[in-house]
Amino acid sequence: MPGEAPLVDWLRAGPAWIPELSLVALDPDGAVIGHVVCTRGTIGAAPALGLGPLSVRPDWQRRGVGKALMHAVLGAADALGEPLVALLGSTEYYPRFGFRPASEYGIVPQHLEWGAHFQVRALTAYDPAVRGEFAYPEPFDRV
Ligand SMILES: CC(C)(COP(=O)(O)OP(=O)(O)OC[C@H]1O[C@@H](n2cnc3c(N)ncnc32)[C@H](O)[C@@H]1OP(=O)(O)O)[C@@H](O)C(=O)NCCC(=O)NCCS
Repeated sequence: MPGEAPLVDWLRAGPAWIPELSLVALDPDGAVIGHVVCTRGTIGAAPALGLGPLSVRPDWQRRGVGKALMHAVLGAADALGEPLVALLGSTEYYPRFGFRPASEYGIVPQHLEWGAHFQVRALTAYDPAVRGEFAYPEPFDRV
């Protein structure tokens, strides 16, 4: 996604930032080689999470860092009692983490053209009654 670096800064500066759900992976020297973040979104009046950005430094890709970050953040979100995580991303990569097209849950994106790329992962606290339009926090509107 273009503009991912400023997006993280904008998110961190705003009210949607959840420190517990901002995770990094480090190499043996302590350098950041990957990160993932979930921030506060909404479905109507109900809370939900938006996942992203997720990125892994190119020289560390395809070695399981992305997989570990995804499982870690989903596990943390579940432990915190969050009901669901939404994201816009590859329909090849994310289903392996339990993501399904959001339409299967009656959840629609702000941009209908996102289609099946807009995906949802239901967590333990998922409530099927929560349906409607998912809204990312405001900084996503700037990218
Ligand atoms: C996507 C990304 C976060 C995955 O992290 P990673 O550490 O490389 O992923 P893992 O090692 O955990 O998993 C690798 C697997 O994911 C698959 N994969 C990686 N990126 C993919 C993509 N964009 N689309 C489909 N599959 C992808 C690979 O095929 C690989 O599968 P394999 O092990 O069967 O070959 C990382 O590659 C990245 O930062 N890419 C650039 C940014 C990007 O494309 N982000 C948006 C993703 S929708």
